[in-house]
Amino acid sequence: MNYHKKTVRDVDVSGKKVLLRCDFNVPLDKETGAITDEKRIVASLPTIQYLLEHGAAVIACSHLGRPKGQVKPELSLKPVAERLGQLLNVDAQLAADVAGPDAAAKAAALQSGQVLLLENLRFQPEEEKNDPEFAKTLASFADLFVSDAFGTVHRAHASTAGVAAYLPAVAGLLVEKELSFLGGALEEPKRPFVAILGGSKVSDKIGVLESLLTKADAILIGGGMSYTFTKALGGKIGASLLEEDRLDFAKSIMEQAETQGVQLLLPTDSVCAHEFAADAAPETFPASEIPEDMMGLDIGPETAKRYADVIQGAGTVIWNGPMGVFEFPAFAKGTAAVAEAMAASNAVTIIGGGDSAAAANQLGFADRMTHISTGGGASLEFLEGKALPGVACLLDK
Ligand code: 3PG
Repeated sequence: MNYHKKTVRDVDVSGKKVLLRCDFNVPLDKETGAITDEKRIVASLPTIQYLLEHGAAVIACSHLGRPKGQVKPELSLKPVAERLGQLLNVDAQLAADVAGPDAAAKAAALQSGQVLLLENLRFQPEEEKNDPEFAKTLASFADLFVSDAFGTVHRAHASTAGVAAYLPAVAGLLVEKELSFLGGALEEPKRPFVAILGGSKVSDKIGVLESLLTKADAILIGGGMSYTFTKALGGKIGASLLEEDRLDFAKSIMEQAETQGVQLLLPTDSVCAHEFAADAAPETFPASEIPEDMMGLDIGPETAKRYADVIQGAGTVIWNGPMGVFEFPAFAKGTAAVAEAMAASNAVTIIGGGDSAAAANQLGFADRMTHISTGGGASLEFLEGKALPGVACLLDK
């Protein structure tokens, strides 16, 4: 995939109306509806500020949650518009609809330096269907499309890709940054290039394992997915997570790693418990000798030390997926050790969004990483080497 795309800096935005796709899919408190983590709003500010300072009028749009084509008042972008206005110190108006009469009237009246937010794109079923007429209506509000919703570039929706058929399309500063770090790591990594893969399921990481096998010098495996690998080697994994139907895949990945000279490391010890619970008593066993009535919930201290040593010598580290159940403090040590080793290393350190980003935040290492992707599914698909519709539709440099 070509990651070298034109950005807002490559076009004249002065006096233009800009349709700006943001990822304002922020978590909301179930009871109060308040935004519980505003990182995605904050991440959109540099592009919005750039556009406003350069004389554009900004028509921002985003989805929030998965209302499946229906108007769900609890998923209105109202709290986002309020917070956005506060952060930008401007009055960010919210349209009453997505691409209906109110949005059209407000977009038509919008002046340079002003911000309008359309209602939740997914209130309209046409958005996820990438309906050309809907895309055309959205595009008719503006002179230029700017894609800055990195978290959504893997979706071929009307607002992420469809509109680019009707407007010149360029990347915003967030998408530019994501493409430069993630793309740079895949294209020209500083070596040794170490990938750390965790999370619960092998099946979620098939594409990324296959892709990184052709690029990385070392792959460190942890989390629930590691037990399927250990089992594939004949180890005893007790009641740990197992994907029987992925045993052959795990074997073939290990064989390919060997043939290609990629160092693939599995845990040698595991912190286990009798049950999946925050207050379960942790006990450490060799990773291939877990008692039948126990389950592995974290990598053990010996593994954590070995992984930290590999990270220490790396030129580039990409991490996707926690090493254990980091939400339970007794089983967070392996994930913390990996995050700490990344934070302390001189390597280019990149966290591929989702759970590992949440872990780095929760454990206090986030501000010592080179880059934390704002995409969960998007960064995973990026690392898989897939063509992402929301990137492919942008003008090449
Ligand atoms: C995300 O939260 O990963 C993005 O906003 C995409 O959301 P989606 O998985 O509902 O498309």
